[in-house]
Amino acid sequence: SNPPIPTTAKPKNTIQSIADRIKTNQITRIIVLTGAGISTSAGIPDFRTPKTGLYDRLAPLKLPSPESIFHISYFSHSPEPFYAIAQARHPTTLKPTLSHAFLALLAKKNLLHFLFTQNIDGLEEDAGVPAEKILWTHGNWKDQHCSKCKSAYPDNMMRKAIRAGDVPYCLAPKCDGAIKPDVVFFGESLPEEFDEKVKLIPEADLMIVMGTSLRVAPCSGIQRMMGPGVPRVLINMERCGDMGSQDGDVCILGDCDEGVSEFAEALGWGDELKALWEEV
Ligand code: APR
Repeated sequence: SNPPIPTTAKPKNTIQSIADRIKTNQITRIIVLTGAGISTSAGIPDFRTPKTGLYDRLAPLKLPSPESIFHISYFSHSPEPFYAIAQARHPTTLKPTLSHAFLALLAKKNLLHFLFTQNIDGLEEDAGVPAEKILWTHGNWKDQHCSKCKSAYPDNMMRKAIRAGDVPYCLAPKCDGAIKPDVVFFGESLPEEFDEKVKLIPEADLMIVMGTSLRVAPCSGIQRMMGPGVPRVLINMERCGDMGSQDGDVCILGDCDEGVSEFAEALGWGDELKALWEEV
């Protein structure tokens, strides 16, 4: 009889096969990329989900395009719309989600090689992910400066302005610049650490992409920076980017808090994840 024809297709990964490799220390360096989808259950709408996403809700403002509200050129002449929505997006008393807690658990188990987040809400760090393991690729709310002369601006005055929905203006004499939080607007460059931190990606043995539509560069390119044959897991409401196109890919489609619970159960971390989330 003829010898069996070797099958070329590699066995498809499942969440359980990935979990088994983590449990047996065959996977120890996980790169994660997150987006707005991991904070929606904390109460911060994402950007592009139809109807509930921020960009659909901005339609009444008749902006040149929804994304203008985060464009530096639009902000420089019309900062008012940004401050009209800032209050709802500027978390002061939000609790991290189960998805944030899952990231903190990865870090606690020394499995988080590095986390790239596109979110500016800082909830990953609030959940317990060490700051040195995070790059806020689009900046965050922690500081603010004049959009014209770059002078610093006091935190308490910024919080007051955001709560009131007012535009804060520069305190420097003869400068009339509007104050802008240190978030990366369209038309601005990313933090310079980005180029340095992406060098960590080829060292990883697993990538997890969570809660992002992979529509905005350069973060959307991260999905293609893994070493050859390294598995990628998507935990997202919808398919995005080229996730799912490679043999080693696993897609957990649906709510990300449910997706991370399924992943944690497969890892035997179900109770640990809930306990960690309870205490954040
Ligand atoms: N569970 C799983 N997926 C979710 C959930 C949820 N609860 N909520 C939303 N999603 C998914 C959406 O289906 C979408 O694929 O998360 C993704 C969110 O995509 P976007 O709204 O485009 O947000 P993001 O990818 O983070 O946007 C990137 O665009 O506007 C700029 O600078 C802004 O950082 C932002 C960047």
